[in-house]
Order: sequence, then structure tokens, then C-alpha cells
Amino acid sequence: MIDLIHDLEGYQAEYQRSVEDPEGFWAGVATGFHWQKPWDRVLNWNFEEPSVRWFEGGLTNLCYNAVDRHALRDGDRVALIWEPNSPNDAPRQWTYRELQEAVARTAGMLQAMGVQAGDRVCLYMPMIPELLWSVLACARLGAVHSVVFGGFSARSLADRVADAGAAVVVCSEKIRRGPRDLPCRAVVEEALDLLEAEQDHPVRKVLVQGSLDPSKPLRSFSNIQSWDWDRLWDQTTARPQPRWMDAEDPLFILYTSGSTGKPKGVLHSTGGYMVYTAYSFAQVFRTAPGDVFWCTADIGWITGHSYLAYGPLLQGATVVMFEGIPTYPDPSRFWKICERHRVSHFYTAPTAIRALMVHGDAPVQSADLSSLRVLGSVGEPINEEAWQWYHRVVGGERCPVTDTWWQTETGGILIGALAGVSPLKPTYAGRPLPGVQPVLLDPQGRELEPTDPPSEQEGLLAMRFPWPSILRSTWGDHERCRTTYFSPFPGYYFTGDGARRDADGMFRIIGRVDDVINVSGHRLGTAEIENALNRHPRVVESAVVGYDHPIKGQGIYAYVILRSGLQDLDADSENQLIHELSETVVREIGAIARPDRIQLVEGLPKTRSGKIMRRFLRKIASGDTSQMGDTTTLLDPSILDAIWAGRKG
Ligand code: WT7
Repeated sequence: MIDLIHDLEGYQAEYQRSVEDPEGFWAGVATGFHWQKPWDRVLNWNFEEPSVRWFEGGLTNLCYNAVDRHALRDGDRVALIWEPNSPNDAPRQWTYRELQEAVARTAGMLQAMGVQAGDRVCLYMPMIPELLWSVLACARLGAVHSVVFGGFSARSLADRVADAGAAVVVCSEKIRRGPRDLPCRAVVEEALDLLEAEQDHPVRKVLVQGSLDPSKPLRSFSNIQSWDWDRLWDQTTARPQPRWMDAEDPLFILYTSGSTGKPKGVLHSTGGYMVYTAYSFAQVFRTAPGDVFWCTADIGWITGHSYLAYGPLLQGATVVMFEGIPTYPDPSRFWKICERHRVSHFYTAPTAIRALMVHGDAPVQSADLSSLRVLGSVGEPINEEAWQWYHRVVGGERCPVTDTWWQTETGGILIGALAGVSPLKPTYAGRPLPGVQPVLLDPQGRELEPTDPPSEQEGLLAMRFPWPSILRSTWGDHERCRTTYFSPFPGYYFTGDGARRDADGMFRIIGRVDDVINVSGHRLGTAEIENALNRHPRVVESAVVGYDHPIKGQGIYAYVILRSGLQDLDADSENQLIHELSETVVREIGAIARPDRIQLVEGLPKTRSGKIMRRFLRKIASGDTSQMGDTTTLLDPSILDAIWAGRKG
């Protein structure tokens, strides 16, 4: 059990203790879980290699702690409520005891397919209970899951499967999303085609859920067996027991975009992730038995991992999982679901709030939201207007709004209000959780010391001490982990975000200071989108930047240079080409990366040494060329006028 902090003084005391004696503090939290063997050492770390090890020598199992522990103690408590895509289909629910049976059976299936501890299993599925069971079943067996969001393309899936060395892929026949069905099994087949054409690839087995043809769930591939979920489910009698894993054994890989190169596989390990997701969930959301917690994120993102699956289940909470989208069949869907399941805690992204806000208050008011008590926001900065609407219209001014800042790499919420305890300041994420030691750095890596008297300061956000769920590595490339997060400012974990700290020590996240953009709460690297565009045969070079977008937070603006130049390009062929470029990005990455605007240009603003000055491109994309700053370093400053003249939007 985690002791909840009761008031601001309690927070300050607990924070103080966590900084003065981190090991004693986290050992105290960790004793609330089942350990088959206690740890020998709480923390062993250095940020140079980096090497961070929590609860070394301890043996535990996350599935046991998240599922079995509650099934044994309070098995009739509802663990999962699943709301299908169509409101006309009946929701389903599972108690902790039933969840244990489903997860153990799924583990039995994976075991029958040969999955063992340490193996990587790729899960490419819609938001159905089978996905959650598969995640937990991997944890039960000690296999490493790598969930790939169902919106990613075959190319993205193939790259992730190959990088993780996943021998087993679990997928579904299709993905139900709003009014349409999207292919899923067919995308896996396309990914296997790509893999077979290119290299030795790891995939040996594919399990297909919901197949239309159980005797042949997958097209035939050499060296790959295909299995049908329903058949295997019926045949499986084994219910493997949780396998005791070392605290530092890998738990999962989750790919995320960076400022350069291919997405990297962020690696999280068992013990620290368990302790921190449960602790942060408990302190931030403060659910009690009988409450219903709904996190709207897809399990394909870190938010779904930490606060749909692991964190709440570790705390024995009742979670809602939703298959569909907020606007289907109409924009009252989210609120109707809150009413139907008496949701008490609701956690979503600003992009969803803004998209629903456009439809006005009526859809919200059409539902009975009296069960709501706590609202959460995650994934991108929440603007004042969205915050106020969320608080007033959705929360009826009675529910605290906690804006939670964290990252795929942090595993759990690092900065955010403890609902009902911490003071709220719209657009500010607030103070760090106990155990989290944020600092602001100047570009030279010097800490900005709090001033006397305290004043607002702005700098680069970094952490000077490890918390239990910090990433352990980037899969297959530890050096990349070091150079991305730990070597920019020696002695610190660097977040990539800029932030402001007010006189009271509250943090406001300004946004990324690198070439990462945040589109509808989805993280994308501009380099990744450029690489995709450059695959089109007519493209010589491209530059992608983000710009402020009223709903998505940031939109994607692409500048593209064609091999043939722009002469003899009439409006029709220009439109046709822009369409093709857009489709190229969707094919290479997925629909989440579709550019909002594509402008064909004659040249890009480059320095004499050939570096693209994105600063100017961002200005033009934002439609504001005041304060362009010094353009004399450009090889050809006149290019800016030409680009401005042809600006889209
Ligand atoms: C980046 C991490 C955290 C899970 C979802 C995103 C931005 C995240 C906030 C927030 C302002 C935020 C940051 C961060 N971000 N939460 N509450 N306020 N910005 O995880 O995909 O790894 O993205 O999202 O820029 O670095 P992610």
C-alpha cells in the first residue's frame, strides 16, 4: 500500500525526505509490493555510462503485482471495463479474478508458441482487451513486449520489429476506429514482405486475433508459422505461473522519435518501473476502491502503458479501456462513456480537449458527469483556454485539473499536481513529485540558481538524480542513449524541453528545444518526416518544421525541393505532386505524420557551410516574419522572400 500525501505540508515533508534519503524513501515505497526475494541494494547509479540500477538483486513479477495480488485478496473487484468502438455494442467487464484467468491463459498461448523470458514480442493491435492481456502475459512470462501503435505503417512496423529482434508478432484482423475499419493483419503481411525483401529478419511466428479464416490466418511466408488466436485460446490448458524476474530485467521496449535518425527503442526495466508507475498513479490521481479511472490514451503510447495498464492495476484500480475515437458517433461520446461507467477520474490529452471544445458545451451537457472528481491532462502543453474549458464545462468547476509532464523515457509522471492537494495554476504543470529533482540549465549547462527574492526563470529542463522508472537504455545502442540524454549536459538527464519556473517553484513546460515536434500529442522527429519525403523519386531535399496549430498543438509544415525545379509545373500537376508527397509520408510512417502543408520551393535558407536555418522556416510557417533576425549568415538571403511569397496556409 502506498500512503497518500494528505496536504501541502505533507507533500513538502515527503519531498524533503525523498531528496535527503532517496534510498530509504524508495525502499519504503517498494515494500508495498510482493518481492519473491528482497533486493540487496536500493540504488546504484552513474549518469556517465549511464548505468542506473534500482532494487538490484530483488526478484519480482509485474503481472503478479498488478493482477494476481489483487485476484487473491479482492478477486471480485472490477479490474477492466471495456467500451467497444460502437456504442450499440455492449461493454464488457472483468474482475481481477477473471483478468488473472485471461492473462494466464494468454501467457499459456504465448508459451505454446515458444515464447520465453527475455524474448521480444511485438504487439500490433487495436484497443481491445486482448492487447492488455498480451501486455500482461508478456510480463508474466518475463518476455519483453514492444507495442507498436496501430496507426503506424508497414514500414514503421517492419523497422521496429527488426530493431527489437522480435520473433513473435501478435496482431488483429482489423482495427475498428469510428465509422471505418482499418487493416491490421494486412499491414503485418506488408511489413513481412518488406522484411523478407531486405534482410534476415527475426520473425518466426505470427498470432492473429479475430481472423476471418482461422485455418489460414496469415498469407504464407517462408519460415513463418501463423497461428489463430481463437483456436489457440480454445486449446490452451496451461496457465503459467508468474516468472520471478530480476528487478533490472527488461520489461518493455517502446519506440519513440528523436531529433535525429530512426526512432529509438526506449528500454524500461521491471522493478523501478513497477514502483514508480504505482507511486505516481497513487499520488497524482488518488483513486479509492470503487472509483473508475479512464485514461483515453492508446496502449501503443507510454501513457497507455503506465496509466492505463500498469500503474492503475498495480494499485488495484478499476480501469476503462475504449476501443474507439472521441467523435464517433458524435462529439458527446467521451462524456457518454463517463456517464455510462460512472467515471470518477478522467485522463486525456489537450488535443482531444481542443477538438471537443470546438463542438461547444452542448455535447458535454448532454451527459451526466456528476461522477467525475479528477481531471488529468498529458502529452503537450495545455493552453489557458483549453484548461479553463476543461475545468469549467467538463469538471463543473469542482474537479481539480492536473497537468502532468513526463516522457516515454521517464516512464511516469515527473511534474504534476497531486489532485486536490497541490495548488493549481493553469498552463503550469506544477511541482515535481517526491523523488524527482528537476533543474533549469543555461545553454552552457550551468544550473540556474533560484534567486533571492525568488523570481521567474527560464531554461533547459534536466534532472540531476535518477528516479526509479528512468529509461535504462535505447535498445541495441547504449551509446545512443548516452549521447541523446546524458552527454549534452554531463551529470544530468536532459529532457529536450525548455521550461519556466515561477517564484513558487512551479514549472511551466514551454516545449521541445530540439527537432522533435508534438502533433496531436504524438511525438515525431522532423528528420524522420524529411527522410520519408526524400524517398519520393522527384524529391532532392526537404525541410520539415512545426508551427502552432489551434487543435493539434503543432502542425507539420514541409518545404520540398524537386529534382526538376519548379518551371513547367502547372497548378494541377503541383497539386497532384503534393498529394503524392503526402501519401508517401503516410506510407512510410503512418497517418499521424501526414503533413498539414507542403510547399514546393526552389531552395532552402542555408548557411555558407550548408546548414539549413530552420529558425527562418519556422517563422515563415507561422506566418510571422517580423523579427526574422540576422539573415546575413545565409548564402542567399533572397531565398526567404521567394519562400514567403509561395507560403501555404
Ligand atoms: C514530450 C514527451 C508523457 C506521455 C505522453 C508524451 C511533451 C508531455 C506534457 C505536458 C507540456 C508535455 C514534452 C515532452 N509533454 N507532457 N503536460 N506539458 N508538454 O510522451 O511522446 O514521450 O513526449 O511531450 O515536450 O518532452 P512522449
